[in-house]
Amino acid sequence: MKALVLAGGSGTRLRPLTHSSAKQLVPVANKPVLFYGLEAIAEAGITEVGLIVNPRAREIREAVGDGSRFGVEVTYLVQEAPLGLAHAVLVARDYLGEDDFVMYLGDNFVVGGIRDLVTAFRAERPDASLLLTEVPDPTAFGVAELDAEGRVVTLEEKPARPRSDLALVGVYLFTPAVHEAVAALKPSARGELEITDALQWLVDRGRTVRSTRITGYWKDTGDAEAMLEVNRQVLESLRPRVEGSVDAASELRGPVVVEDGATVVRSRLEGPLIVGAGTAVRDSRLGPYTSIGPDCVLADTSLAYSIVLNGARIEGTGPLEGCLIGRHATVAPAAPAPHRLILGDHSEVRIRS
Ligand code: G1P
Repeated sequence: MKALVLAGGSGTRLRPLTHSSAKQLVPVANKPVLFYGLEAIAEAGITEVGLIVNPRAREIREAVGDGSRFGVEVTYLVQEAPLGLAHAVLVARDYLGEDDFVMYLGDNFVVGGIRDLVTAFRAERPDASLLLTEVPDPTAFGVAELDAEGRVVTLEEKPARPRSDLALVGVYLFTPAVHEAVAALKPSARGELEITDALQWLVDRGRTVRSTRITGYWKDTGDAEAMLEVNRQVLESLRPRVEGSVDAASELRGPVVVEDGATVVRSRLEGPLIVGAGTAVRDSRLGPYTSIGPDCVLADTSLAYSIVLNGARIEGTGPLEGCLIGRHATVAPAAPAPHRLILGDHSEVRIRS
């Protein structure tokens, strides 16, 4: 069995954190989303990974390399244009050969991995197996309708009027039967070859398409609340580790990770909390449920339930909670009035009036 991991993407739905970086590299608990996918694939016993990238994917190639750090062997497959998920299967046709494969969208996050799903698929070998999850806004996803027995009846891509609230999660398991379906597809209204249509093609021809419902699913739809929640869930199983330096005047409580080269001075850290490599913390109260990226500065501040990306500076502020702070952003105190804000596109700030 092989894996086909998609990290191409047209980047048309860029949100604050993905303006300047690939959405597959958005960090959850200080680790890119894509890495969790690769780890889940390795953990399921799959070692051959075809990674679909766009021609300008330098950032992804630099981050993933040859895959050896994940215990897999990565073959890069270039998709010249973002013509759809099923088009990516066409691009990978020779690579996949006659093997079964798991298709994994690199911007999707499945809490708990995919090992059991892969094991069940290997044992039963339906033509296809998909994952479904309840979402508040199904119009942003592929949507499945099930019959009374739980069999998949219809699949629709981003329907204006969804027939259910069950979204297709971006992890699919296929036998080579999918290639016949993909070869028969015509571009959708948005001009893409949709994997959703390939699945419908299989359903219409009476092929076996299994579905499994999951919870603990996330993808970057630009929803800060959802991102903070997935960060919280992942931090729940954080194992404490202090590699940086913590002075005697600081106090650590609960599972706290202080990465290499980070310095903590006169501060109170409450886990679960990660302080990234090279970050300097002083006179602050941090955590719980907070991920702070590498090379940040936090001084005279208090921050909880938040995500801070690399290179950000937070100094001299009152208590902050539920924040998502982008790369190299600065948060500093204002003179009593007026406030001065320099915000990137799609940013959101809440200040006392
Ligand atoms: C794709 C699929 C959609 C699925 C989603 C999950 O959409 O077309 O069916 O629900 O991934 O991430 P995209 O995000 O590429 O628009």
